[in-house]
Amino acid sequence: MSIKTPKLTVVGAGPGDADLITIKAIKAIESADVILYDALINEELLNYASPNTEIIFVGKRKGCYAFQQEQINELIVNKANEKGHVVRLKGGDPFIFGRGAEEIDYVRPFGLETYVVPGISSISAVPAYQGIPLTKRHAAESFWVITGTTKNHQLSSDVHLAAKSTATVVILMGMSKLDEIVNVFSLENKQDAPVAIIQEGTTDNEKVGIATINKIKQVVEEKQLTSPAIIVIGDVVKERAVLSSLCENLREDLI
Ligand SMILES: C[S@@+](CC[C@H](N)C(=O)[O-])C[C@H]1O[C@@H](n2cnc3c(N)ncnc32)[C@H](O)[C@@H]1O
Repeated sequence: MSIKTPKLTVVGAGPGDADLITIKAIKAIESADVILYDALINEELLNYASPNTEIIFVGKRKGCYAFQQEQINELIVNKANEKGHVVRLKGGDPFIFGRGAEEIDYVRPFGLETYVVPGISSISAVPAYQGIPLTKRHAAESFWVITGTTKNHQLSSDVHLAAKSTATVVILMGMSKLDEIVNVFSLENKQDAPVAIIQEGTTDNEKVGIATINKIKQVVEEKQLTSPAIIVIGDVVKERAVLSSLCENLREDLI
């Protein structure tokens, strides 16, 4: 039996729609000896794996982690030494709030070869499926992408800075901090700023709520919006209707 080189490929699985995967990601999945996958990936993608591939769920379900990060790190090293190629399949892009770089840092001293396959991130794909561009002439010249919840469970202080700007603000992992986010924008006199909250974007379960800062909590309650969701704040949200109809035509054309 040939000894395989222990290696890790950190792979972006895209935002949810199984077609939003790259060819390079499919090739990595096909060649994996072991796949460790997270909760936000579309499990259809696992069909690209060979029948001999060991597949392990290491994500969070119903609020509980199947594995702690330290255990995942160790598992990658052990499985690579035992079987060869470990693919770490992560939602969206693995280098955007995905801990992909941390896992690579951990395994390097153990002598594993390390690779990354970037993915289509939810930060732009999820708004795009709702027809929302993150930049548009006369609406936004730039955008911020911020985590709503930092390592110590606080709202990122960058939200305060972003609220002062004219940029589009995209907040991930922010649903539990919605009250605070609304307060921050209200203090900047942005009660009328348009907001979109998109839950499970690009999937069959996609739900969306559109309002202004001062009405968004009511919409969230009415529509029962919850995590995983992306919060987009800024004038680009007003561009939605025009783009959605375009997108829908496009989608119909593709079917
Ligand atoms: C740990 S971050 C991972 C982001 C990922 N690496 C990416 O590039 O999309 C998880 C957060 O991303 C957002 N997210 C990821 N996929 C999403 C989707 N399909 N719909 C809405 N939000 C999503 C949510 O805010 C979720 O809590």
